[in-house]
Amino acid sequence: MSFLKKTKAITIDGPAGSGKSTVSRLVAEKMGYVYVDTGAMYRALTLKVMDKNMDFADEDAIADLASGLMLELLPSCKGSATIRVMMDGRDVSEAIRTMEVTQNVKHVAKIASVRKKLVHLQRKMIDGISGAVMEGRDIGTVVLKDAACKVYLDASFDERVDRRLAELRANGRPVTRLEVANDLKQRDHTDKTRKVGPLKKADDAVLLDTSDLSVTQVVEKIVNYAKDVIRGKRP
Ligand code: DC
Repeated sequence: MSFLKKTKAITIDGPAGSGKSTVSRLVAEKMGYVYVDTGAMYRALTLKVMDKNMDFADEDAIADLASGLMLELLPSCKGSATIRVMMDGRDVSEAIRTMEVTQNVKHVAKIASVRKKLVHLQRKMIDGISGAVMEGRDIGTVVLKDAACKVYLDASFDERVDRRLAELRANGRPVTRLEVANDLKQRDHTDKTRKVGPLKKADDAVLLDTSDLSVTQVVEKIVNYAKDVIRGKRP
C-alpha cells in the first residue's frame, strides 16, 4: 500500500554528520511540512531498553517493547537544532543524545522485527497529512520508497568529524577529535553493513555533497528540487 497518494514526502538519508537533522528541519519549515526524525525513534527505544536493564541480545523482548512504544515527536523551541521527544509522557530529548545511547543504538537498529515495527510506525505517522520531510538511513530505500523526492546527503569524512566535534563541544561534551573520528568510523561501518535497512543511496535519490556548502545553500537546493518535483519539472 502506498502512503504517498495523499502525502507529499521528501526523504533525506545520509551518514552521521552529513547535516541531515538541521537541514531536514529547515526544509520542513520552509515547505510547511511535518518533520520526522527517525533516528530519534531508534534512540528512544534504545534508551528504554537501557532503562529497563534489558539484554540487547533479547531480540523478542525488544521487539515487544517497540510494539508498545508511546512516542511523540514535537517541534523544537525556536533556535534549537533538534526536536523534542516525549516517550511514555516523559521528555527524553536530552537523554536520547548521550554517548551511551549513541553507542548502543546499533544493537537495536539491527533487529529485523524492531525495524519492521518502527517502519510501520513511521509510515503511520505521516499517513494522510499533506506533507512530510522524513530523515534517517533507510527512508528512500525502505520506509517511503515510492516518494517522488529523495535526497542523499553526504560530506567528506573530515568535514563530518569537524561538524560532530563542534556540535558536541557546543553542548559542553569534552571529547577529542580522535574519539569523534573513531565513533563516526564505527557508525558508518555498522550503518552500511547492517543486514536489514542499511544506509544506502536509493537509485532514484539526488546525491548532495554538503562538504563545501552552507546550511542555507543545502536547504535552498533541496527546496528548489522539491518544488520542481511538485511542479512536474523533474521526472
Ligand atoms: O540519525 P541519528 O544519528 O540520530 O540515528 C541514530 C542511529 O539510529 C543511527 O546510528 C542508526 C539508527 N537509525 C537507523 O537504523 N535507521 C534510521 N532510519 C534512522 C536511524
